[in-house]
Amino acid sequence: MKGIILAGGAGSRLYPLTLVASKQLQPVFDKPMVYYPLTTLIEGGIREFCLISTPQDLPRFQQLLGDGRQWGLNIEYREQARPAGIAQAFTIADSFIGSDAVTLILGDNIFYGGDIFQRAFADFHGGAAIFGYHVNDPERYGVVEFDAQGQAISIEEKPKNPRSNYAVPGLYIFDNEVVAVARALKPSARGELEITDVNLEYMRRGQLRVFRLGRGFAWLDAGTSSSLHEASAYVQTIEKRAGIKIGCPEEAAFRRGFLSLNDLEALTARIPQCEYRDYLLEVAAEARRLQNPSAA
Ligand code: DAU
Repeated sequence: MKGIILAGGAGSRLYPLTLVASKQLQPVFDKPMVYYPLTTLIEGGIREFCLISTPQDLPRFQQLLGDGRQWGLNIEYREQARPAGIAQAFTIADSFIGSDAVTLILGDNIFYGGDIFQRAFADFHGGAAIFGYHVNDPERYGVVEFDAQGQAISIEEKPKNPRSNYAVPGLYIFDNEVVAVARALKPSARGELEITDVNLEYMRRGQLRVFRLGRGFAWLDAGTSSSLHEASAYVQTIEKRAGIKIGCPEEAAFRRGFLSLNDLEALTARIPQCEYRDYLLEVAAEARRLQNPSAA
């Protein structure tokens, strides 16, 4: 399965922060925002990525993430000339997707907890898989309605009168048909190629699975100044309490086996003295202790 990170858009809701650096490059506590969705997909076992952003911002993402080799990944880049809709990602990344299945994650969505995505990737055998998460303000999102058997029966984009409190988060899994589905879409009333219309097409075909993300799972979106601040506070709280990092691609790549312990140590040695480096040194030292318990 391949992974697309969609990190374009106007970022106008964060003005003036976004005058010189796009939304997905802003800090969420101690890391750039894009580290979080990238790490979510690495944890799910994805190694091949395509990052899509605006022509102005793409060079900065390339500077930040490079070709991904340092983390045992492969990262390609594609431009989206203007924000014509989330579903356009599939036609832009057509040559990257090739004949594979693909997962798309939005560059401003932050997830924490559980292994539901890992399981969804591992169990994916075709069609589409999306998720439902209980929120307070469903009218801001794609909203999915379930029947008494837990079967998804409707999805609406930003409905005025939501039929449920279940929002569809920005992580979607599709088989290779998605490129053709996206190509056949017509722009919505707001002039965008809607991801909700892609999901509706799979639902019409009887090929859409919707997994509910339960309690104990956090989904944060960092699209406004307040939600950005809240996301930072959340990450800080968890990291401080647990002594772990959320959204650390180096650690995720190591735990997934994309980097050896030697690779992780060499990579860490190249990071300047800072708290982030100290953390990775500790991750590597703990792994060494587990390898050689008698040397401890
Ligand atoms: O966050 C989840 C929600 O994301 C879903 O529940 C909705 O169904 C989906 O339409 C989307 O809603 P938003 O209103 O949050 O989408 P927004 O236009 O803010 O775009 C989400 C991210 O994708 C944002 O970081 C910018 C990026 N983007 C968006 C568009 C439309 C692009 O890179 N290119 C685009 O053309």
